[in-house]
Amino acid sequence: MKNIVVIGAGTMGNGIAHTFAQSGFAVNLVDVKPENLDRALKTITTNLDRIISKGNLTEEQKNQTLGNIKTFTDLKDAVPNANLIVEAATENLELKLKIFAQMDELSPENCILATNTSSISITKIASVTKRPEKVIGMHFMNPVPIMKLVEIIKGYSTSKETFDVIYELSKKLDKVPVEVNDYPGFVANRILMPMINESIETLYNGVAGVEEIDTVMKLGMAHPMGPLQLADFIGLDVCLAILNVMYDGFKNPKYAPNPLLVNMVMAGKKGVKSGEGFYDYSESKKAEKVSKMFLK
Ligand SMILES: NC(=O)c1ccc[n+]([C@@H]2O[C@H](COP(=O)([O-])OP(=O)(O)OC[C@H]3O[C@@H](n4cnc5c(N)ncnc54)[C@H](O)[C@@H]3O)[C@@H](O)[C@H]2O)c1
Repeated sequence: MKNIVVIGAGTMGNGIAHTFAQSGFAVNLVDVKPENLDRALKTITTNLDRIISKGNLTEEQKNQTLGNIKTFTDLKDAVPNANLIVEAATENLELKLKIFAQMDELSPENCILATNTSSISITKIASVTKRPEKVIGMHFMNPVPIMKLVEIIKGYSTSKETFDVIYELSKKLDKVPVEVNDYPGFVANRILMPMINESIETLYNGVAGVEEIDTVMKLGMAHPMGPLQLADFIGLDVCLAILNVMYDGFKNPKYAPNPLLVNMVMAGKKGVKSGEGFYDYSESKKAEKVSKMFLK
């Protein structure tokens, strides 16, 4: 296991590429948008500088890490020598099925195909490949270089060999892997998303404001970040997509996304990545709450 391909250079893709590269793997990072590749390299550089400032990395290690990453806009140029591909493109079933069919067609026969999906069925994704035994979920948490957990999700046909390789690899990345079965939302989001959705419902019902809800959960439940701010960091479009997968998968109204979340995503308010969600992340108003949208 030496050559890693990461597909998607957004919030998660840049962190996954960073983590593998810092552990000495050669990483080919692929995105259809060149500007997202540029932004990912800038983010990785900034994050490496932050680690240096804490005394946990040298300038030489930073340069080695950056030297381990190459960027591509075309999948077929990135995968010929891949041992593992980690797909971290947009959370959309049709898109992932299309990408996995391409991954299967273009990559070496023994390459493991992993997805960082938050909720979509690994078994379904595997069904469009000719190697379902080599398809697995490798669900990193955001921000990837910092968060220790990786949910390792076994699809219906994932082999023990594939599972063992990915489990051990996660430990080499200094992560803690946890074995999980393939049902909508897996474990992390099955528990987290209903809480985030309920916090949006609480806001929508006018029970309390953005900061008040987040303060209750931070100071009352010892959460390091309130649920509304966490939703902004995850991406409100990602939260909506995950809730829809669980709603469809379980046919249970308790997972139905709140209308305020739907409206915000339709209005382009996706949280940190779009500059505004429940808080305003523009330079002048870093993380000030956006109250205008919630006045009844
Ligand atoms: N945001 C989180 O906190 C989080 C946490 C864990 C897992 N995830 C999962 O990780 C995946 C990525 O989420 P994200 O938050 O990084 O999304 P994002 O919107 O920040 O980034 C997605 C990237 O994929 C790229 N992309 C789209 N189609 C592509 C294609 N055909 N080929 C290559 N690149 C393509 C986009 O240009 C974009 O740069 C999703 O499956 C999501 O559910 C997200």
